[in-house]
Amino acid sequence: MRSNQLKEKYIEFFKSKKHKEISNFSLIPQNDPTVLFTTAGMHPLVPYLLGQKHPSGKRLVNVQKCLRTGDIDEVGNDIHLTFFEMLGNWGLGDYWKEDAINWSFEFLTDKKWLNLPVDRLGVSVFAGDKDSPKDEESVKIWKDNGIFEKRIAYLGKKDNWWGPAGQTGPCGPCTEMFYWAGKGDAPERFDPTDSNWIEIWNDVFMQYNKDIEGKYSELKQKNVDTGMGTERIIMILEGKNSIYETSNFVPIVEKIKQLAGFDKVNEVEEISVRKIADHVRAATFLINDGVAPSNADQGYVLRRLIRTAIRHGRILGISQKNLCGEISKEIIKIYSKNYPGLKEKRKKILDELDIEETKFEQTLEKGLKKFKEMTKNRKISGKNAFLLFQSYGFPLEIVRELAEENGVKVDVKGFERELKKHQEISRTSTKGKFGSGLADQSEEVTKLHTATHLLHSALKKVLKEDIEQRGSNITSERLRFDFNFDRKLTEEEIKKVEETINDWIKKDIVVKMDEMTISEAKKAGAIGLFEYSGKVSVYSIGKISKEICTGPHVKNTKEIGKFEIVKEKSSSAGVRRIKAILS
Ligand code: SER
Repeated sequence: MRSNQLKEKYIEFFKSKKHKEISNFSLIPQNDPTVLFTTAGMHPLVPYLLGQKHPSGKRLVNVQKCLRTGDIDEVGNDIHLTFFEMLGNWGLGDYWKEDAINWSFEFLTDKKWLNLPVDRLGVSVFAGDKDSPKDEESVKIWKDNGIFEKRIAYLGKKDNWWGPAGQTGPCGPCTEMFYWAGKGDAPERFDPTDSNWIEIWNDVFMQYNKDIEGKYSELKQKNVDTGMGTERIIMILEGKNSIYETSNFVPIVEKIKQLAGFDKVNEVEEISVRKIADHVRAATFLINDGVAPSNADQGYVLRRLIRTAIRHGRILGISQKNLCGEISKEIIKIYSKNYPGLKEKRKKILDELDIEETKFEQTLEKGLKKFKEMTKNRKISGKNAFLLFQSYGFPLEIVRELAEENGVKVDVKGFERELKKHQEISRTSTKGKFGSGLADQSEEVTKLHTATHLLHSALKKVLKEDIEQRGSNITSERLRFDFNFDRKLTEEEIKKVEETINDWIKKDIVVKMDEMTISEAKKAGAIGLFEYSGKVSVYSIGKISKEICTGPHVKNTKEIGKFEIVKEKSSSAGVRRIKAILS
C-alpha cells in the first residue's frame, strides 16, 4: 500500500467514527514559545487538551508533519527518521480507552482497513507506579479483542507514559502496538526488547497534568491522543525490511546511488545514503515552512542537516555540485501532491540548499585538515570542537561523527559550555529545547501573544504589506518575532512601529474569536495556515489583525500595557528579529 492510500484510509476510518479532519500544521510551532519543532500531532492541540473548546469538536483526526532530533544519531538504521508524517486521532474529553483501543485494533486488523494478522501483534501497557495504577482497563480491552496474555508487556514510565511535551502539561499512561516484522511466525511471547517487534502505534490516555514541581493532578477532561508513524506502517504494509526501501524512499535512495555511481553499496555506505535521504527530506520540508540556515534555533538544525548530508555525500565520493538540490528535486516530486507548497516554493528551496552548500564548501576542506591536526592526541577538547563549529561551520554532529570514524573522543560537555558562553546560539545546543513543549498560558504570555499579532500588523503597515512571520517565541518576559525583511530597520521605523502599536492598545479594541472553516477564514482575509481542511479559530483585533490561531489572547487591547522594542537585528539571510517587552 502506498503512503497516500494509507493516509486516505486512516482519515476515512476515523471520519466513519465521527472525527473531523483538521489541518496539518507547520513544522514550526506558531504559538509555542518552548519548542523548536512540532514533534507530535498533539503539539498544536495542547490548549484543547487542557480544556479549551476546539472549533471542530471533540473528535479530531489528521496527518501531521513532525520533526524530531532526539534520535538523530539513530538515523541510518532501518526505522529511524528525523522528519516523519504522523497519523493521529484525538478524543477531547470524549471517548476513552475502550473506543480508542477497539478502533486501533479494528483499523489495524479488519479486512476493510489494514488487514494485519492478529497473530503478529503485541502490545505494551503501563505497569503502574506511585503516580498512576497499573492499566488493567486497557489489558482487559486488549484481551477482549483476542490479544493473549503472553503478547502483553507491562512497562514503566520510561516506555509507557507519554508527555508532557515540555516540563509541564498534559500527559498520561499509554498503550503501544507492535508488529512482528521478523522472519517466520511471531514468537508466542511478545518481547519489546527484540527489534523484530516494531512499534507502530501509540494510544495515550491523557488524564493528568504535570506541574512544575513534578506533581500529577487529574486534568479537567480525559483525552485520547494517538500517533502512528506513516513511514513505519508503510514499511510493514509493503513488506520491506527498512523504511528506506519503501515506495516513497526508493526514488530518493536511487538518485543518491546514481549520483555516487554505485549500483550496490556496502553497509557503511548504506548508512551514508540513508542519512542523506533523511536529512535532505527534512531540510526540504523545513525550508518549505520558512526556515533558513543559521547558527540559532531552527536555522541551526537545518544547517546541521544540510551539512551532515553534504559530508556524507563526500564520504560516498559524490563530487556533484548542488548535491542536496538534486536530491530535493526528487523529494519535491514525491510529496508535491500532498504538499502543494513544495512546488510553489521549489525555487526557494533549491536556492537555499545551494547557498548553504556553497558556504560549507568554502570551509569543509580546511576544517577537515584542522580536525586532523587537532586529533594528534586522540582527543577533541570542548574549545576545539567549538572552534570547528564557529570557524569552520562544522555542527557538533559532524565533529562527533568524524571523531567516531577516527576513534577519537570529543568533550561534548565542554563544547556545550563554550556554546553557552555565546548567548545567541546557546539555546540550540541543549536537548531540552528539542524535546520540550508546552505553551505557557500565563497572563504575561497571553498579553505578549496579543502584542505579537499587533506587531505583525504594524510591520505590514510601516514596512510593507507582504511581511510574513518566520518564527515567534514568547516567554513571560518578552516576545520575539522573526519576519521576512532584508535590511536593518531605521530608528524612525522602529519608533513608528512602537507608536502604531501603542496607539492601537490605547483604543481599547475588543479581541474576538470566531470559529469558521478554512475557506471562510481565507475569504475573511485571515492570515495563517491554509493547508488541509477543518474548522479553525480566527482571532480578530478590530480591523487591525485577523489571524488563524489557537490563542490564548487578552479580551481587550487595553490589558496589554505599553509596548517597547528592545532589540532589532538580523536572524538569518533575509530575516529580521525583533524582541519587545511590555511595561
Ligand atoms: N503523542 C504521542 C506520540 O507522539 C501519541 O500521538 O507518540
